[in-house]
Amino acid sequence: MNKPLSQDYDEGSKPDPRLVATAAEAVIQAGRIQKEYFGQNVHVEKKGPIDLVTQVDIEVETMFREMICERYPDHIVLAEELERNRQSTNISKYCWVFDPIDGTVNYAHGLPIFCASLALEIDGVAEVAAVYDPIREELFMAERGQGARLNGVPLQVSKTGTLLDSMLCTGFPYDVHQTVNEVVGLFGDFVSSARAVRRLGSAALDLCYVAAGRFDGFWEQRLQPWDMAAGALLVEEAGGRVTDMAGHPFSSRTGSIIASNGQVHEEMERIILSRRSAKTDG
Ligand code: IPD
Ligand code: CA
Ligand code: CA
Repeated sequence: MNKPLSQDYDEGSKPDPRLVATAAEAVIQAGRIQKEYFGQNVHVEKKGPIDLVTQVDIEVETMFREMICERYPDHIVLAEELERNRQSTNISKYCWVFDPIDGTVNYAHGLPIFCASLALEIDGVAEVAAVYDPIREELFMAERGQGARLNGVPLQVSKTGTLLDSMLCTGFPYDVHQTVNEVVGLFGDFVSSARAVRRLGSAALDLCYVAAGRFDGFWEQRLQPWDMAAGALLVEEAGGRVTDMAGHPFSSRTGSIIASNGQVHEEMERIILSRRSAKTDG
């Protein structure tokens, strides 16, 4: 039997270690399922012209919902695939924000860059993050105020001081066919200012790689809470900075993100701002 919720978490104290263990267990279990089917002919459906869902997204999310329902029946789950059109009327201090596969298009094409991403929000603030890449067997974990770790080893963002020396990453939203000028225009601005810009296809892993110092910065617009809630906490806990694309304080609900090592954040903000003002002027 779990303890009453009120004893799981007090303001200013660490979340119950069982919550952290559940987060790790859930993403590792997700990774097992992803790996079992990876490279096979999985059933794929279209949610939009280029937005896919596979049978594995559904199986992983079902496993996760059952796990939380059994262990923490009073907690809310906010996840990508099931109950998408159902407005939740439940209220809980605890909300698990879960992406069963981040990188579904990669997964469906047999490209081994994907993960499961999970954040536990307590009173609306991400307190625990867990992201697992089953191909590389990399488990990224963070607890607010306690740092970020990769397979138990503490993470630190890079120390790169300028965009010219930076390797950046971004992603393209699923409405890119309609917004290609805006999205690729900004991509071009960064390509002509940075050492290199990559597009891997998994926002959660992109953010983990900023936390790990593999990328110096990441930006993307029109993201969902499950794409970025965990990764944003990992970046902050690895010593980096996270805002929305207008430079305002980050929230996983506002749809856009700049995540960086802190040092190149303002340069990134300036590039985004100047494209936005050029658009308004023209
Ligand atoms: C997508 C990936 C991708 C990003 C898209 C996301 P999904 O998530 O994170 O990198 O560019 O905006 O929607 O659909 O694979 O879970
Ligand atoms: Ca996603
Ligand atoms: Ca997904």
